[in-house]
Amino acid sequence: MSLQAVIRSVSHYVPTRRVTNDDLSKLMETSDEWITERTGIKERRFIESDAVTTSTLGEAAARKALEKAGWAPEELDLIVVATLSPDLYFPGVGVLLQQRLGCRTIPALDIRAQCSGLVYGLSCVDGFVKSRQAKKILLVCAEVQSPVLDLTTRGRDMAVLFGDGAGALTIEAVDEVDGAGAAKRGIIDSFLGSDGSGAEVLCMKLPGTARPGFIKASDIEAGLVHPKMDGKVVFKNAVTRLLETAHTLLKRNGVSPGDVSLVVPHQANLRINEMVRQELKLPPERVFNNIQRYGNTTAATIPICLSEAVEEGRLKQGDLVLTLAFGAGFTWGGNLVRW
Ligand code: COA
Repeated sequence: MSLQAVIRSVSHYVPTRRVTNDDLSKLMETSDEWITERTGIKERRFIESDAVTTSTLGEAAARKALEKAGWAPEELDLIVVATLSPDLYFPGVGVLLQQRLGCRTIPALDIRAQCSGLVYGLSCVDGFVKSRQAKKILLVCAEVQSPVLDLTTRGRDMAVLFGDGAGALTIEAVDEVDGAGAAKRGIIDSFLGSDGSGAEVLCMKLPGTARPGFIKASDIEAGLVHPKMDGKVVFKNAVTRLLETAHTLLKRNGVSPGDVSLVVPHQANLRINEMVRQELKLPPERVFNNIQRYGNTTAATIPICLSEAVEEGRLKQGDLVLTLAFGAGFTWGGNLVRW
């Protein structure tokens, strides 16, 4: 019998420090009006101090998710972390969480798929489940991005978009069919893609081995230690790939957009998500957005949305969920999940 990867719980944690658009306009030439109109973002969260790292946020989200599932850390047999902002150049955040949570010496790995981290992560977890390599899995998506943003007018196109935060899911391998004849719960299908020709369209060049030696003062001057993006190119590719992902997953599973209870897209720009919603002909309540309050938390956006959707009663057991993501790489993809 084939195993299903069933999501048992989801939780999130964001730093307490709220940074509004007006706060940013004191640091750079920008305005609440520009940011709201172009992106939908009103505020984001930044870490309170340098002592807070990606694994700190990830651990907080993970502990809440474990508590909701009623699992002790020792029960886990795999940790998967998605992040583009690890605590250290190496090792990854997965092993830091293994130690911080007090898990057994289970496998722990990091995924580097940027804003597509959650959708790649769920697909990876599904593979571990289907190949019977893990039964109780923790998937953590966490980012601390504020320290590398250029919070001056030079970096305003990127700086206003991003925030810090984390989300975590517990996922269990089960071979049950919920209820008599009811649809199977769990990850039904995933679709992933990449196109490395877009690597330099959205990237942060340093630190990295493509530029030999340590970071030099001139690199800092040149802004190579901050993320850079050609926003218009990313925008167009995002809309195209998100729709390609949605149509592929729906078609090959014989599902129409109207059958989906909730679409949970990556939170990069409210206008992108609005275009996707209109193209799929869905009413606003069928697409979950919270970019207004958190900005783009990269890999963490979708699990934070899922967590809030559950808290708000917009996502219930048995619902059909479609996740959609696009990000640096380019990478993209989605998951069709029976919650
Ligand atoms: N405040 C005020 N003005 C700003 C600004 C800011 N924070 N950032 C840029 N501008 C200026 C630009 O300098 C430009 O000025 P100019 O016309 O005098 O040259 C003007 O605003 C328009 O900039 P533009 O880049 O054309 O805006 P846009 O409508 O494309 O919106 C983004 C910019 C970044 C919001 C948008 O392109 C976007 O969301 N891209 C996709 C992001 C994404 O999907 N990321 C996913 C992976 S993380």
